[in-house]
Amino acid sequence: MRVFNAWTAALLLLLAGLASQPAAAQTAAAPAGAASAPAGIGTEYSEKGADTCLGCHDEEADTTTFTTAAIFKTRHAHRGNKASPFGAGGLQCEACHGPGGRHATKGSDKKRSINSLKSNSFLPVAERNATCLQCHENRSRTGWHAAAHERGALACTDCHRLHVERDAVLTKADQAEVCYSCHKKQRADFHKASTHPVRFGLMRCSDCHSAHGSPSSAMLIKPTLNQTCYACHADKRGPLLWEHAPVSEDCSLCHSAHGSVRNALLNKSPPLLCQQCHSQAGHPSVARTGGSLPGGSAGAQIFLLAGSCTNCHSQVHGSNHPAGAKLMR
Ligand code: HEC
Ligand code: HEC
Ligand code: HEC
Ligand code: HEC
Ligand code: HEC
Ligand code: HEC
Ligand code: HEC
Ligand code: HEC
Ligand code: HEC
Ligand code: HEC
Repeated sequence: MRVFNAWTAALLLLLAGLASQPAAAQTAAAPAGAASAPAGIGTEYSEKGADTCLGCHDEEADTTTFTTAAIFKTRHAHRGNKASPFGAGGLQCEACHGPGGRHATKGSDKKRSINSLKSNSFLPVAERNATCLQCHENRSRTGWHAAAHERGALACTDCHRLHVERDAVLTKADQAEVCYSCHKKQRADFHKASTHPVRFGLMRCSDCHSAHGSPSSAMLIKPTLNQTCYACHADKRGPLLWEHAPVSEDCSLCHSAHGSVRNALLNKSPPLLCQQCHSQAGHPSVARTGGSLPGGSAGAQIFLLAGSCTNCHSQVHGSNHPAGAKLMR
């Protein structure tokens, strides 16, 4: 028989008469990292599964922001999927909310007798997440790595809504709003003049970040920042005949990934951008000098007049032209 969760396991042990001390049995059966079933909840399941729950949590109990039955329009209600809460033999509502037998009896403390999975739950985050992780932990993309969001004690339900037909965080056009609720600076960045097209619903934060965590810095989807960029900007990867060293080193030496007030997501404007690394000294003289202008030294004025280094060195990302050594063609 399939063991669905810590509480089922504990119940089975109880039925088998193996556990004279329920608390110990629960601990033994709990999945790694999960705490034992909380005392207020108990181990009893409701008699008629979802039917018991829906007896009270019906349309009349719905609010403007919450519809119990909306869960039946989601993948969690796929009866054909044995792994889903509503699959054959599944624990239905109680697969997520835990044993609801005590909660369903008259006179019980309705709040403290059920795992509501909500942010105001009396249960600690780790225990709330454990109910989800028992089904989701081992799937490759869902691993909850020891990254910033887990360290920051986020609950699965800080991002996911389950009693809705479409979970906003899984929807391209709506995902960013979920993230912005905590990441206010990023909201400002993505409204600057030059950005990745997140605000038009054409890209998601999760095109670059693994919200569940990754071993990379800033939870990027690829092992390095550059590999993350190459996923879409393959033309910048090379190999090129004439490489520009900082490009293969780190795109963020010149670009900010989220947004910038300068064009092309640049974190400084040329010539300043370039002059962080290149000195003007020894730059070959060019025809249009500004040496004769008031107050000017020749070197400085070249760049004022020429406007930008990239007017001449247009191939900043490297060149494949036989004569492209100076990144001019
Ligand atoms: C006898 C009626 C009754 C039955 C049966 C019942 N509930 Fe409840 N439930 C309530 C009431 C009343 C509340 C409190 C609502 C409130 O105060 O906002 C509640 C609250 C909840 C909450 C939210 C708790 C919180 O902290 O806000 C969840 C989740 C819940 N029930 C799930 C279930 C599940 C799952 C079942 C089936 C196992 C179930 N209920 C069966 C009456 C019932
Ligand atoms: C796949 C997991 C899952 C299943 C299955 C599930 N729920 Fe929930 N439920 C949640 C989560 C998560 C929340 C917290 C609110 C949210 O994210 O939508 C919640 C919230 C609730 C609430 C509290 C609503 C409020 O805002 O006060 C009630 C009541 C509830 N569920 C009842 C049920 C009933 C009845 C069933 C079975 C028909 C059920 N749930 C099945 C995950 C689940
Ligand atoms: C009893 C096992 C079980 C439990 C408990 C469970 N899930 Fe799931 N979940 C599934 C299955 C099965 C699917 C469907 C996977 C598929 O179709 O590939 C799923 C799908 C999802 C999806 C993807 C939905 C979509 O539309 O693509 C999300 C997000 C999710 N679950 C989050 C949660 C969260 C958060 C919790 C805890 C509140 C939770 N699940 C609890 C089994 C479970
Ligand atoms: C910071 C927000 C955030 C938190 C917290 C979060 N998720 Fe997600 N989750 C996402 C995003 C974004 C996606 C879509 C990722 C994608 O499509 O590449 C996703 C996708 C999923 C999916 C469906 C795709 C898949 O990988 O199978 C499941 C299941 C899921 N999350 C479960 C969970 C569980 C379980 C937890 C808690 C341990 C959790 N999530 C916590 C943001 C979050
Ligand atoms: C409930 C609040 C909350 C939500 C919602 C949220 N985050 Fe976070 N996020 C945090 C916290 C807390 C940290 C850790 C901050 C710190 O360490 O300074 C964090 C850190 C991060 C980091 C930096 C990781 C690192 O290693 O530096 C990234 C990237 C990130 N979040 C992306 C996202 C994305 C993408 C979403 C939406 C899918 C999202 N967050 C939704 C709270 C949230
Ligand atoms: C084009 C890829 C890309 C997209 C899309 C993207 N990010 Fe990032 N994000 C990055 C990179 C790269 C870094 C690391 C910057 C660094 O280390 O220099 C980062 C860093 C972060 C950080 C860590 C703090 C910081 O600013 O350095 C947070 C938080 C974050 N991103 C949130 C988000 C959110 C929220 C979204 C969606 C609204 C989002 N990101 C979309 C690439 C992206
Ligand atoms: C998921 C795909 C994707 C990823 C990953 C990605 N980009 Fe982009 N990038 C785009 C799209 C789409 C555009 C917009 C193109 C357009 O508007 O024509 C864009 C535009 C740009 C632009 C030009 C912006 C402008 O205003 O002209 C720069 C610079 C850029 N990306 C740099 C990066 C860097 C650096 C990374 C890695 C941190 C990265 N991109 C990762 C898809 C991606
Ligand atoms: C030495 C600074 C520098 C580095 C490093 C750099 N870029 Fe750029 N990038 C620029 C400049 C300058 C422009 C604007 C060019 C223009 O105005 O014509 C630009 C423009 C772009 C554009 C938009 C125009 C185009 O060529 O498609 C994309 C996309 C882009 N960069 C991606 C990347 C990626 C991906 C990386 C890392 C692999 C990277 N850049 C590294 C300086 C740099
Ligand atoms: C983060 C430092 C850095 C930045 C910023 C930078 N460069 Fe470079 N650049 C280098 C390095 C390192 C080399 C390789 C020097 C060498 O091989 O001697 C180089 C090489 C060059 C060369 C070829 C020189 C030669 O002798 O072959 C040109 C031209 C050039 N850069 C122009 C630019 C322009 C234009 C910008 C601004 C858009 C810029 N660089 C920004 C570090 C930088
Ligand atoms: C008006 C055109 C023009 C502008 C503007 C310009 N350069 Fe150059 N640059 C040249 C020429 C021409 C060469 C020499 C090419 C050669 O020797 O083959 C050169 C060579 C270089 C070299 C290689 C130096 C060496 O010793 O070979 C670097 C580095 C460089 N430029 C960086 C810059 C930077 C940084 C800027 C902006 C601050 C800039 N250039 C603006 C035309 C220009």
